[in-house]
Amino acid sequence: MRPPTITIDGPSGTGKGTLAIRLVRATGWHLLDSGALYRVVAYAAQQQGVSLDSAADLARIATGLALEFQVAEEAVEVWLNGMEISTDIRSETAGSAASQVAAIAAVRDALLARQREFLRAPGLVADGRDMGTVVFPTAELKIFLTASPFIRAERRYKQLKQKGIDVNLARLSEDIAARDRRDEEREVSPLQPASDAIILDTSALDIDAVEESVIALAQERGLR
Ligand code: C5P
Repeated sequence: MRPPTITIDGPSGTGKGTLAIRLVRATGWHLLDSGALYRVVAYAAQQQGVSLDSAADLARIATGLALEFQVAEEAVEVWLNGMEISTDIRSETAGSAASQVAAIAAVRDALLARQREFLRAPGLVADGRDMGTVVFPTAELKIFLTASPFIRAERRYKQLKQKGIDVNLARLSEDIAARDRRDEEREVSPLQPASDAIILDTSALDIDAVEESVIALAQERGLR
């Protein structure tokens, strides 16, 4: 039998990553931070001098990534070829580069099987943009987080500052808006809720309240 899956999709700054880590702690399940895969493809391309619109080269990079993930206290740590690159891939510039490569069908195809390999017993929490629509369409529980643009920019601002990344709030708001627009408007796997997703507006909710609602939903569906 396929292990159970909870998918968490939504635009940036809605709290997906934090929620996913908390659910993993509560359940003991595996975690897929799919955004990190797109961030690493863009990062590796830039390191190798590959243009972010060179589809065939990017797909080759996506297929061959020697990656390792480790769930830390509040974020997923990422190693590429044995080197920790977590901070390098978390800036908004890296997020924007990720969204450029994520719009390329060949890159998404190259990452599909790799993402599905994360589904192992006892279960999976998968965080991204198309987890419930494309990668795990038969997931038992699909959550789609939203929040107002202002709140999302503010959250990302605090998160990046905490990581020691230098940011300007006005610039960050513009960059996030542009990234979300690109994610929503692209032709392949655009950011949108699955028809059977539960949509949670987190604008006025703290992360404890979001976690409680999702755990309650998981229990209702017999997942815990
Ligand atoms: O979630 P995160 O901010 O790390 O994602 C970075 C970018 O990767 C997103 O803006 C999006 O373009 C892309 N992405 C995607 N599909 C996913 C996860 C992330 O297209 N499942």
